[in-house]
Formats: sequence, C-alpha cells, structure tokens
Amino acid sequence: MAEKLLEVKNLKSVYKTRFNEKITAVDDVSFDLEDGKCLGIAGESGCGKSTLAMSVMGYYYPPLFYESGIVNISGIDITKIPYNQLRKEILGKEIAYIPQAAMNALNPTQRIINLIEDVMEEHISGITKKEIRKIAEDRFETLNLPKDVLQRYPIELSGGMKQRTVIAISTILNPKILIADEPTSALDVTSQKIVIKLLKDLIKRGFIKAMVFITHELPLLYNIADDIMVMYAGEIVESGEAEEVIFDPIHPYSNGLMNSIIVPEKGIKGKKLTVIPGAPPNLKYKLEGCRFFDRCLFAKDECKISEINMKYVNNRSYRCVLQVDELKEMYEDGKKPATT
Ligand SMILES: Nc1ncnc2c1ncn2[C@@H]1O[C@H](COP(=O)(O)OP(=O)(O)OP(=O)(O)O)[C@@H](O)[C@H]1O
Ligand SMILES: [Mg+2]
Repeated sequence: MAEKLLEVKNLKSVYKTRFNEKITAVDDVSFDLEDGKCLGIAGESGCGKSTLAMSVMGYYYPPLFYESGIVNISGIDITKIPYNQLRKEILGKEIAYIPQAAMNALNPTQRIINLIEDVMEEHISGITKKEIRKIAEDRFETLNLPKDVLQRYPIELSGGMKQRTVIAISTILNPKILIADEPTSALDVTSQKIVIKLLKDLIKRGFIKAMVFITHELPLLYNIADDIMVMYAGEIVESGEAEEVIFDPIHPYSNGLMNSIIVPEKGIKGKKLTVIPGAPPNLKYKLEGCRFFDRCLFAKDECKISEINMKYVNNRSYRCVLQVDELKEMYEDGKKPATT
C-alpha cells in the first residue's frame, strides 16, 4: 500500500466574528492523501474549500480558529505543535500551499528570481545567490518555462505564465504535498490545460509526491484528480474515484453539480444544462439533518430530522439517507430541476 502522506481526521474549524457568531466552515472532515495521488476537492463558493486548505496548513489566524480533529503530516499532528516548529519543519518542505488568487499577490516590485531567493534563503541557511540561480534555471528548464521569466517583474507576465511561475516558486523546495487552491479559475481554457499539465509534471518528475487540487468545477477534475471529495456547507458529502464521482455521482448535490456544467466533457455530451435551485445554507446557524435538504429534489421529510452519517459502498462514500439504488432510479426517472 502506498505511503499516507497526509491524514486528516474529524477536523473542525470555525470563524468567530466580532458579533460573537460562530461559523463552522470545516465540519468534521476526514480524508487521506497517499503518495503519488492527486485528490480533487470540489464544491460551490462558500462551501469551505479554502478554509479546509488553510486548516490543513495550520494557518489559524483570527477570525479562523481550530476547534478539533487531527492533521497528520509525515506522522506529525500539526495541530499539536507550536507555530515555530510548524514553520521551520513542515511548511514549504513537507507541504506547500498556493492560495486562491496567489498569482495576483506576487510582490510587484521584485523580479521573479528575487522572490525565489526569499523562499530559498529562508529555508536553506548559507545558500548563495549563485546556487539559487542555478537551481531556479534548472527547474524552469525542466518545467518548460522560459528562463528569462526569472529576470522579469510579475506585471510583465501573462496570467497563465504568472500562475505557472507561482507554481514553480511554491514547489522549488520540493515539498512532499502541494495544495493548489483554484489554480486555474482565473485562466482561459488553453492556459488552464497548460497549468494542469505543469502540475501533473511536478508529480511525474518527483518534485512533489502528492497534491490536493481545489476547484468549483467538478468536471475539470477529470483531467487531473485520482480521487474526488465533494464538499457542501462545510461537510464532505461524497468521495470516491474521480471518474466514478464525475460520471456516476451518488449524492444529489454531486449529481446537481454535474448537471449544471457549461463545458461539455467526454461522456457527458448532450445532457441538458440545469441549475441547482436555491443557495447553500448560512453556516452561522446550527444546521440539523441534511444540509442540502432545501435544494434537493429527492428530499424526504426524514432528511430534515435525522442525523445524516456517511454511508460506505465499495470504495465510495456519500452522506444521504437514501440508498444508492433509490437515488439512481430517481435520476433515471428524470426527476430533475427545471432546465435553464
Ligand atoms: N474571514 C472570515 N470571517 C467569517 N467567515 C468567513 C471568513 N472567511 C470565510 N468565511 C465563511 O466560511 C465559509 C467557507 O468559506 P471558504 O472561503 O472556505 O469557501 P470556499 O469553498 O473556498 O469558497 P470559494 O469557492 O468562493 O473560494 C463561508 O461561509 C464564508 O462566508
Ligand atoms: Mg476558496
């Protein structure tokens, strides 16, 4: 069995607002990430994807607070260690994070090589500028990025090139795990494909060992993820192998996401475009029963009142009171949302 690089168990993270409200943005989330794998996380805006990423990195700054659970990175539970140790031993080396919209946050006054110097000098004591330049040039060459980018300022790069550069900088220390938060969302389709190829190359060439790829576009994960977790209102509602979750979703929310895609993908051509009615619940309220209840076309009264636990079927899991067969039958019967 492949080595488990990341193990998240029952993780709960909350935002505490100045109005004394508690927003549980990551609610009892568990998953593993194995060597060589790419885990895709999909879900609508506000479902907790970025909060989960920040929690896994131990980025707990007010108003975000750790509530409970464990995050094991290479055998160390990072929720139990001081921030200094986390920064010195784990961040950047064991795990790296490319935040959402990171490419727009590059320091505009520094050339790309200076940004790489900052990262390397912080982690490798005594490294010279000449050594850094050699490492950076070799890395850019291997990843098919033009070397002259190193001497440019961020403003001189196109969106796609900026994103590829951010990825190259974030992985220059060869972290075992990379968490990429919506790395393709601001890019055109061609640039998206190039960025996805670059991320795959990082694993293929052994610069990183495993990756978490976050997106709100479930079908996009077909091109990169081995496994997928679908998040809704802070919880995982479905997980399984990428191809199965995309082409044969079990949970009504995953099914809704797949029916609402705009770009046709292999195997799902000809489907009617539909929307999921309503909006996700406000996470500041205590939520009972199924969180998707109000928007689900297949909901029954019991969905609102029962506690909905994960069900495990073969290699898949989903959070719904209904059985797989019942759901499939309803999907086939065409009990679907109104077409747009
Ligand atoms: N600083 C904050 N203070 C209070 N609540 C917050 C804060 N940041 C996020 N939230 C809330 O936490 C929940 C999860 O937000 P998060 O940014 O993790 O979602 P997301 O899935 O990454 O969304 P998106 O696709 O838009 O990036 C949302 O309900 C959001 O309103
Ligand atoms: Mg986000």
